[in-house]
Amino acid sequence: MAIERLVTTPAALPDEEPLNWSLRPTRIGEYIGQADLIARLSIALQAARGRTSPLDHVLLHGPPGLGKTTLAHVIAAEMGTKAYTTSGPALSKGTDLVAALTRLESGDILFIDEIHRMPIAVEEFIYPAMEDYRIDVPVDSGMHARTVQIKLKPFTLIGATTRAGLISAPLRSRFVLAHHLRFYTPDELLAIVRRSAHMLGMPHTDLTALKLIADRSRGTPRIANRLLRRVRDYSQVKAAGELNINIVQQALAMEGVDPLGLDELDRQYLRIIGTTYKGGPCGVEAIAATMSEDAGTLEDVVEPFLLQLGFLARTRRGRMLTAAGAKHIGVAPPPEFAADPET
Ligand code: ADE
Repeated sequence: MAIERLVTTPAALPDEEPLNWSLRPTRIGEYIGQADLIARLSIALQAARGRTSPLDHVLLHGPPGLGKTTLAHVIAAEMGTKAYTTSGPALSKGTDLVAALTRLESGDILFIDEIHRMPIAVEEFIYPAMEDYRIDVPVDSGMHARTVQIKLKPFTLIGATTRAGLISAPLRSRFVLAHHLRFYTPDELLAIVRRSAHMLGMPHTDLTALKLIADRSRGTPRIANRLLRRVRDYSQVKAAGELNINIVQQALAMEGVDPLGLDELDRQYLRIIGTTYKGGPCGVEAIAATMSEDAGTLEDVVEPFLLQLGFLARTRRGRMLTAAGAKHIGVAPPPEFAADPET
């Protein structure tokens, strides 16, 4: 059976969205981290406002939980316009976008999450919208089939994806600003957790306790904020509201989060490569089948951080455990990595 990953998944959980909104930055000045992206965006925003024209279309890619949706709303706030959101899988035909596109006012944002899952028919439908702010809507069918052109107000499309590689070249080329979001540094995460603790009414929390939460959040603000909430509950119920490094350790141990922030799903993934596949190389499909998991989930939510930690190598022949990855789960590294001087 697939492992439930309710505390440490970087994907958004259905019930937590309202909670998330309360902690998200709303203006660019409040945004912590992604300094290079924020610098590029600030210039683009200032230039667009100066010309009273919409911001160029933006493509954001990177692992889940790093702030792509938040940024779309921050951008709208900075432009003084509205953001409307939809997602690739929710769109099955081009005309699904007619209502959303025609209600946009000048400078509004249309945010399409998981844009790599948008069907090709929808993709082709939005090309003229992106380029010329017009759509060609089919009316009637058969002998009377024709299209009616509708003019749109100049708007900004923000596309988000966890898989930049799956975006077609024609779609990608229509985005003027494309940026990869990186995992947050421990210092950035600490700053985010401190801000969140303040907003949750925990302003006097010990800094070392917050640092421990930040360090176990796998570079991901969404996980950091979720762990903070779990720790707050634990402290309230088990420690009369006291919150120090010991309480954080106990709370995170209960959630199965290890000192590097890895959870049972990450460790199971490493163990399967390490034992069943003797360290690899092996294909992600084979690992997914052994774990009864979806290969896409492994690629999106498990592998990026293991790659970042240097526990996993993606080679042309498949996934391989590195010496550090093997050491973490206590198995022998594959021969290629056995003589790794770093570990
Ligand atoms: N909360 C979640 N992500 C954040 C960020 N990047 N900056 C500030 N607060 C956040």
